[in-house]
Amino acid sequence: MSGMHPLKHNMFRHKSISLLFLFCFATLASLSLSLESKHFSGKTPYSWVHPTADDVKEDEWYNMENLQGMACNAVHASAIIRHGARYPGLEDVNHIIDIHHRLVNAMEPDVNTRLYEWKNRFPSNNNKALHHLGEEEQEGLGRRIARRLHTLFVDEDIADFRFIVSTMQRTKESASAFYEGFTSAIHTEDDIKDEFDTEVNDELMRFFALCAKYVYSVDQNKTAYKEYHKFLEGPEINAVTKKIYKKLGIAEDILTPAEIRLIYLACGYETAAFQSSPWCSVLDDDDMEILEYLGDIRHSIKNGYAHNITWQQSCPLLSEIFFGLDETIAEIENTEEDEEVGGFIVGQFAFGHAETLGPLYAILGLYNDTVPIRADNKIQQDERLFRASKILPFSANAVFVLYECVPEEFKDHDEVDSAEYYLQLFVNEQPVLIPGCQEMHCPYNQVRDRYSDYIDRCDFKKMCKKSPLKDEL
Ligand SMILES: *[C@@H]1O[C@H](CO)[C@@H](O)[C@H](O)[C@H]1NC(C)=O
Ligand SMILES: *[C@@H]1O[C@H](CO)[C@@H](O)[C@H](O)[C@H]1NC(C)=O
Ligand SMILES: *[C@@H]1O[C@H](CO)[C@@H](O)[C@H](O)[C@H]1NC(C)=O
Repeated sequence: MSGMHPLKHNMFRHKSISLLFLFCFATLASLSLSLESKHFSGKTPYSWVHPTADDVKEDEWYNMENLQGMACNAVHASAIIRHGARYPGLEDVNHIIDIHHRLVNAMEPDVNTRLYEWKNRFPSNNNKALHHLGEEEQEGLGRRIARRLHTLFVDEDIADFRFIVSTMQRTKESASAFYEGFTSAIHTEDDIKDEFDTEVNDELMRFFALCAKYVYSVDQNKTAYKEYHKFLEGPEINAVTKKIYKKLGIAEDILTPAEIRLIYLACGYETAAFQSSPWCSVLDDDDMEILEYLGDIRHSIKNGYAHNITWQQSCPLLSEIFFGLDETIAEIENTEEDEEVGGFIVGQFAFGHAETLGPLYAILGLYNDTVPIRADNKIQQDERLFRASKILPFSANAVFVLYECVPEEFKDHDEVDSAEYYLQLFVNEQPVLIPGCQEMHCPYNQVRDRYSDYIDRCDFKKMCKKSPLKDEL
């Protein structure tokens, strides 16, 4: 098993540990969670899993190198970005308060003073709104992307960018924070424009809420979550529960398995917002790993490969991305020799949710584990690809960059009519091999062909019909 820290575990399990020492250790542990235990599945802040230097290299993504005999420049970028770290939902906050009441009634005050004296610090009017950490994530991401594609973006009019959001406030707040970082990297203070238009489009960004078949056969279908409930009610979570009772000196059974998950989420949300959380003191690294796995089972069902409709329903978004790429190429190709190429969208930035990005990964065939994640194969899944902490943290992002390539000897001439187009994908700011490609940079047409069924034959209404069989009669 991974994530073992023998020394630490021995310390935790040592029976004769003094109360004072235990208290100090718990405080220390919750103040400085080790990086290995900072995995909160889809509730992980971006910087905990993708630490990024802010001074990324200018034009790092603009020129493509290592392409034999060709000079390539970026001509279009299309990004799909999950909203930044947010506040917990009110329901979860109220539930945690209720759990705390029960624990306080059952435990002695001096066993874990910080937990005993815990008070909710989340405001009651911020239901799932973006918090400052989420703003910072988005601002930093905007700045880094703008820097890496500086030459592509620098002289462009604001009309040459497109910003898409969902109806949820947190995606709009994410877009604003992103825009702030973005413009600060490509404009001087004076010509930064405050006004920028966003387009609200739920068919692109919240297809999962509009697709009746997904809603009734997956999202609202308890049977579809069978593996999740099996693991939740299974021996691993039960062992975590017992350990928590022991640590807190609680004799009776007062928490449900779902409440153990909430304690884990509270630890994550509070650490993100306030740097530390007493809730973390009842979970060791092994417990965290088990609860992370529970979260990943949920993501595989809700946002991943477990049911085909989950990823098929993202085809309107996939089409939109590729139509944008097609259009860029058409504009460049159709520009007369003596005209300056221009007037097309150079950057498209779409802000959505884990339920937007997860299905997009899957329709692309990314992070497809050969063996599905189940309640009974945790050990086998230690190296799973579809690991939400890594691929779907807050502010997770996928950026397609389109390159126009011309033979080296023509690179300073405008009148080349033999341009070739290459596509490269960056996920969470790292280059990722597009499925079916041999190299990171892949001929555009090869990628386009591979997904053409989803791009050109995307019938959202039909695939999302509640009872297609009945309707066909
Ligand atoms: C619910 O999920 C199960 C398991 O995937 C499936 O067999 C069943 O048809 C689903 N129910 C509905 C109403 O789609
Ligand atoms: C789900 O999609 C995959 C990949 O396209 C396909 O191989 C499989 O047959 C589909 N499964 C069902 C039940 O339709
Ligand atoms: C995922 O991988 C399985 C086999 O490993 C394959 O049958 C399936 O088509 C893949 N799914 C998608 C959506 O690409």
